[in-house]
Amino acid sequence: MLEGSKVKMNSIKLSNGKKFHSYESKTILDSALQQGIVLEHSCRSGRCGVCKTKVIQGKSRLLQPEESLTLEEKAEGNILTCCRVAESDIDLDSEDLGALANYPPKISPCRIDSIKKMTPTVIEITLRLPPGQQVSYLPGQYVDVIGQGGRRRSYSIANAPQSDGRITLFIKKVDGGEMSNYWFNDAKVNDLLRLEGPLGTFFFREPTTEKIVMLATGTGIAPIKALLEQLNKAPSLIAGRRIFLIWGNRSKEDFFWSDSFENIDLVYTPVISQADDSWEGERGYVQTSLIESDIELKKVTVYACGFENMINSAKAELAHAGLAPHNFYSDAFVCSS
Ligand SMILES: Cc1cc2nc3c(=O)[nH]c(=O)nc-3n(C[C@H](O)[C@H](O)[C@H](O)COP(=O)(O)OP(=O)(O)OC[C@H]3O[C@@H](n4cnc5c(N)ncnc54)[C@H](O)[C@@H]3O)c2cc1C
Ligand code: FES
Repeated sequence: MLEGSKVKMNSIKLSNGKKFHSYESKTILDSALQQGIVLEHSCRSGRCGVCKTKVIQGKSRLLQPEESLTLEEKAEGNILTCCRVAESDIDLDSEDLGALANYPPKISPCRIDSIKKMTPTVIEITLRLPPGQQVSYLPGQYVDVIGQGGRRRSYSIANAPQSDGRITLFIKKVDGGEMSNYWFNDAKVNDLLRLEGPLGTFFFREPTTEKIVMLATGTGIAPIKALLEQLNKAPSLIAGRRIFLIWGNRSKEDFFWSDSFENIDLVYTPVISQADDSWEGERGYVQTSLIESDIELKKVTVYACGFENMINSAKAELAHAGLAPHNFYSDAFVCSS
């Protein structure tokens, strides 16, 4: 829906010829989403860099700082579509993600169906929607949970869509965190919340490389688990490819989930960053574990999820070690402040 006839609108053209209007007060990304055009995005706050694109021609202005864009990238004409509003008609060097056009985000009421303590600092929350309603999403996407007072935080859906429509989240406790305080101290079964989703463009792409590697740290395993469930249900998507899962945590007590997939060839490596002498497995960081393995990075597509620092390090180190940047898909758990 267009917002009021007096609002000035510019036209945004994508490299595949698709066009949409940019609303004066909305970012280019939000304008696109509102018109059913999905551009690459994740955090929507300028922090993850996933929405980076080159401007072929046209002017835009900042609505929020482009924190993850380097000076070099800016000089090359790149912008973050989640940070800018159009000031003229604009041509962008990017395409929309047709695969997501059928999954428009919407706001729905939901109730907490169950709360399960996985470790002292991670809980599993299952949410149910009113009868007859459900979130239609692609595995890997996330939702914003809106709590009391309109407080909003993003959480990846940890399961592939299931027939009862329930969605599961893995939530890590952040000391002093506002929503953490709610989840870990106040949340009760049947609490009424709202969620907006699905959001994000972290989803499984048709494979073009020999191997697929999934990297996760902490609760970053959530969307990776959803992707693995999807592939286990439809193994033809990977056409016999082996999948490597490298999951990192600080200690062995932090591994709150274990894999059990019958239909896919999954090689799982747990990695610990602060291991004691009793740990006989891999130590260090997930990206280092991949770089030091015998997997040839030129033949790999990587799906990575975890907190911001891990994603930034993995992206830079893997590119330096030979991974093609366009074969790195990520969802960074950037914090909201
Ligand atoms: C796309 C996306 C998906 C996400 N998915 C998940 C998920 O599946 N599971 C999950 O647990 N989280 C996820 N997050 C992170 C989540 O949205 C919150 O940012 C996080 O849980 C903190 O919220 P809070 O309200 O508890 O803390 P806040 O009140 O937002 O923060 C309190 C303080 O802690 C700092 N802080 C926030 N996060 C961290 C951190 N990780 N490490 C150190 N300091 C921090 C803040 O800067 C602030 O000073 C995701 C984030 C994004 C953007
Ligand atoms: S920086 Fe724009 S979506 Fe993250």
